[in-house]
Amino acid sequence: MLFADNAFKGKHIVVTGASRGIGRETAIQLTRSGASVTLTGRNRERLEEVQKECENGTGETQIVVADLNQAADRQELVEKSLEFLPVYGLVNSAGVLSTYYLEDIPEEELRKAMEVNFFSLTLLTQEFYTEMKKREEGAIVNLSSLSGLRGTHGNVSYCASKFAVTGFTQSLAHEAIRSNIRVNAVAPGFVDTEMGRKAVAAKAEREGRSFEEQWELAQSGNPSGRITTAGEVAGTILFLLSEASENIIGESVKISGGSVMR
Ligand SMILES: NC(=O)c1ccc[n+]([C@@H]2O[C@H](COP(=O)([O-])OP(=O)(O)OC[C@H]3O[C@@H](n4cnc5c(N)ncnc54)[C@H](OP(=O)(O)O)[C@@H]3O)[C@@H](O)[C@H]2O)c1
Repeated sequence: MLFADNAFKGKHIVVTGASRGIGRETAIQLTRSGASVTLTGRNRERLEEVQKECENGTGETQIVVADLNQAADRQELVEKSLEFLPVYGLVNSAGVLSTYYLEDIPEEELRKAMEVNFFSLTLLTQEFYTEMKKREEGAIVNLSSLSGLRGTHGNVSYCASKFAVTGFTQSLAHEAIRSNIRVNAVAPGFVDTEMGRKAVAAKAEREGRSFEEQWELAQSGNPSGRITTAGEVAGTILFLLSEASENIIGESVKISGGSVMR
């Protein structure tokens, strides 16, 4: 375990996208490090499974089922989170993949990528940020991507939505630090989650390879020789939420296995 079991004691962190993948691992690591966590996603059953895994930790948890594209659900999430405990941190992990060439993308898919990955993230952050400002402390971590830092092939909508997250992170970081709230992002390459596997499958189809061949290429394309795990991304998120990263502000921390160095 990266942090001591009381590293986040007394801190309440809201984790979106907690039903799967990176959000799930983040919630589990946080509770094992003493944080109390509000777990949110649309799938109650999966959230309950994650909550069970969090029972090994010392922090308390609550589930709030919410579709972040719905204003009423966002409002309820904020209200229930504040009723549970004052909010110290927010991890915006909910997101969708969108793998299209420009000439193929249906308008509704373009809008969907921006809706979940950017608009809902921004509107939810706006609500929590307003509350966090009153306490003059806290940390926000957004899930950007290597595709939020440079263009990637066949990803116009996903890339655009993640560049928006990177820009939002940098700009909000400027204003938020005046209220002692640090805002950062993580920018992973392929991560071994449902989304990561879907992304590799889409690339395999485009390139006329099998999934296994494409997966192997993704692994060997990284100097580390392997794809990042959700637990490794979660560890970086905990670092950015913690006092160990006190003067790190507005960064998008790459987790690329060495594939993007600059
Ligand atoms: N995996 C990768 O290779 C990779 C690489 C770079 C960046 N990222 C980013 O990291 C984040 C997490 O990715 P992941 O791999 O963990 O993805 P994942 O396994 O597909 O999980 C996505 C999560 O987002 C939630 N979600 C999606 N739409 C939602 C909505 N409308 N309202 C509420 N929740 C919603 C899902 O919950 P429900 O289904 O329960 O609603 C699920 O918990 C995303 O922002 C992704 O873009 C991923």
